[in-house]
Amino acid sequence: MARLEHHVFICVNERSADDPRGCCASRGGSEIRGLFSDELKARGLKSKIRANKAGCLDLCSRGPVVVVYPSGIWYSPQSGDDVRMIVEDHLIGGKPVTDLQISRT
Ligand code: FES
Repeated sequence: MARLEHHVFICVNERSADDPRGCCASRGGSEIRGLFSDELKARGLKSKIRANKAGCLDLCSRGPVVVVYPSGIWYSPQSGDDVRMIVEDHLIGGKPVTDLQISRT
């Protein structure tokens, strides 16, 4: 098996509607995960880049939360256009998308 170039973790954690922390599931986490998967498949990149579901990544209010390894860059994509930009500019082109990044601090 070829070594992965990037591993993308997408929070899909779900909490009850009355939980004050909110959750990425209610902010479209599963849809964003599906968009990453579809985009990587369409570009023939699934053997080089993996997009996996993740549990809570502790930035709940910023969701849907995505982290890319090995670079350790955090994102909050809101749409298919955002996902395509991350795939094209960062994962393929090597240039992180600063406008979509979020900070851990
Ligand atoms: S629920 Fe997604 S970061 Fe916590």
